[in-house]
Amino acid sequence: MERKTFYITTPIYYPSGNMTIGHTYTTVAADTMTRFRKMQGYDTYFLTGTDEHGQKIEKKAAEAGVTPIEYVDKIVAETQELWKLMNIEYDDFIRTTQERHIKVVQQIFRKFWEQGDIYKAEYEGMYCTPCESFWTPTQLEEKDGVKVCPDCGRPCQPMQEESYFFRMSKYQDWLIEYIEQHPDFIQPAKRANEMLTNFLRPGLQDLCVSRTSVKWGIPVDFDQKHTVYVWIDALSNYITALGYGTEHDELFQKYWPADVHLVGKEIVRFHTIYWPIMLHALGLPLPKQVFGHGWLLFGTDKMSKSKGNVVYPQPIVARYGVDPLRYYLMREMPFGADGNYTNESFLTRMNADLANDLGNLVSRTVAMIEKYFDGIMPAWDRDTEEPTGEALRKHCADLPAQVDLQMGKLQFSQALTEIWKVIGECNKYIDLTQPWVLGKDPEKKGLLGNVLLTLAECVRFVAVLIGPFMPSTPARIFEQIGLQDDRLKTWDSLSCFGKLPDGIRVRKGEALFPRIDVNKELEALSGPEDKADKKEEKAQAKQEKKEQKAADKKEKKSGHEEPEYPAEISIDDFFKCKIQAARVVHCEKVEKSSKLLKFTLSLGADGERTVVSGIQKYYDPETLIGRQVAVITNLKTAKLAGIESQGMILSAMDSQGNLKLVSIEEGVEDGAIIG
Ligand code: ME8
Repeated sequence: MERKTFYITTPIYYPSGNMTIGHTYTTVAADTMTRFRKMQGYDTYFLTGTDEHGQKIEKKAAEAGVTPIEYVDKIVAETQELWKLMNIEYDDFIRTTQERHIKVVQQIFRKFWEQGDIYKAEYEGMYCTPCESFWTPTQLEEKDGVKVCPDCGRPCQPMQEESYFFRMSKYQDWLIEYIEQHPDFIQPAKRANEMLTNFLRPGLQDLCVSRTSVKWGIPVDFDQKHTVYVWIDALSNYITALGYGTEHDELFQKYWPADVHLVGKEIVRFHTIYWPIMLHALGLPLPKQVFGHGWLLFGTDKMSKSKGNVVYPQPIVARYGVDPLRYYLMREMPFGADGNYTNESFLTRMNADLANDLGNLVSRTVAMIEKYFDGIMPAWDRDTEEPTGEALRKHCADLPAQVDLQMGKLQFSQALTEIWKVIGECNKYIDLTQPWVLGKDPEKKGLLGNVLLTLAECVRFVAVLIGPFMPSTPARIFEQIGLQDDRLKTWDSLSCFGKLPDGIRVRKGEALFPRIDVNKELEALSGPEDKADKKEEKAQAKQEKKEQKAADKKEKKSGHEEPEYPAEISIDDFFKCKIQAARVVHCEKVEKSSKLLKFTLSLGADGERTVVSGIQKYYDPETLIGRQVAVITNLKTAKLAGIESQGMILSAMDSQGNLKLVSIEEGVEDGAIIG
């Protein structure tokens, strides 16, 4: 019989800087899931890689004084080293600069063009030749009566700019229906709702899919001055890596459609709107699932290379090993939700879950077999009843099914919780049966043997089941309980409880996870800079609290109550307000405020700015990312909760008293003047 296949992917990461613990999180999740399915007998395929084109990389390379490919080669090599260190066993690592990818992306783009999914549109505008930049009239600045480039201040010339656009709108109704009829397609389910409500039902805009300004990209082969938009390029990796569109498409035939694309929640939109539409246009089936997991936060911020608030895995692994970190990442937060990374929570888990719960169980079990049975695994004594362990044995026998259920839903943390319940029960069982008391009574030898064998068999189950999460730990446990037979280290061998053979020799080894002194380790992990930072942070927090109070007061005053308007104003008065269309690039809650959201807005060529707005009660911040809003951009800046707010986002109150953002019809460029 053919084995069932399982194809899983991570996003392909930007090699703009070294990979963080955030990238490690997704990659460890994919690796854990792959190992789990492999252990169950699936024919698995695990793809990861790097997304190497685009302006960001081009700029980074220029700053470093090297060519883009030199720049990414170095980071890719370091990334691959990191995955090796983390014990990641991928089947393929795709780089978007590889010929195998480039060729097929060009072919895909051409197909879209030939079948009319892509059209070319011309725009009239002003061009700055030295900067190779195209500007709309509103983006230009004026110097001595001449329209000049906002970047370099040199005069611009009238010019036509052409771009290719993908008719996304054509597929909108099909996609809405598809998502509605396939409730498992987007997980967690609330992300499906976000996509439908925020993007699909309001109407999709056609997507600009080529750039003439970005040189570091895949050239459109029938129109060389254009490069393919990075997301069209990047998303295609999931099929180009399998040889789609080539003579050697065996992997594609075998593994497509993917079982699951794991992605961070901020890129769910690209994977559940653009990607399905691209696939449908190619006549291909959609991946069975896109899972948008939460963010590993650092404080209240998403860790990000651009913000510089990053934790890297290497120093942690160097000090504590790979398995504790892998365990922590999969255990600490439910997959789908956000969670905070702190050294303290990591160290606490190491002590509580690994050293105390698991480590102690193994060492106590082995030590007692050594002490009472000279290190030889006792045989089950049929003549002695051992009712105390009945529930535990049943619970442990059911454990594989429980773990399978949770893993099927990618609930890694829950799967581990199930395993740790059994570990906890074992430790309680030791306290309850008190083997050290039984050991004193020769008549109780049979009972004692049954207790210890029960424990050792539970340890075997646990060791097998934690393997996908902590690949190096099972071997160390098997060694201690003296299990050599590989057939008893498999998923299949957990089909019934009680297979552990008697007569094998246990071997007490080093503690699996030695207990650590959390305070000492915290000191060791935080460098001298961190300590200085902490002091400063405290002072800042105090100041911010003060400001927040003042801001709250101010907010209450202005609120959304109607001010007194003059009966009429002149048009000049109105034009004093500069209102612009802006795209939400980032949005998050302001710490310590129940009202404020902090926005990063893009005004196209006018750059980005930060705006704080009191609409936290009405919107989930992530759902606003990508949306266009109207913002007054020449308002005097105000400090809200310690943050400089450079504008005001327009909103109106609905009949139920909820604030609603003013929206702009599609087709308006970011930065365009409203008025
Ligand atoms: O978005 N918490 O690349 P990227 C959780 N090239 N996950 C995190 C994380 C964090 N703090 N930081 C990073 C791109 N990630 C595109 C993808 S796919 C066709 C193209 C993980 O380098 C998470 O999976 O910005 C997130 O989606 C991804 O890294 C972003 O990586």
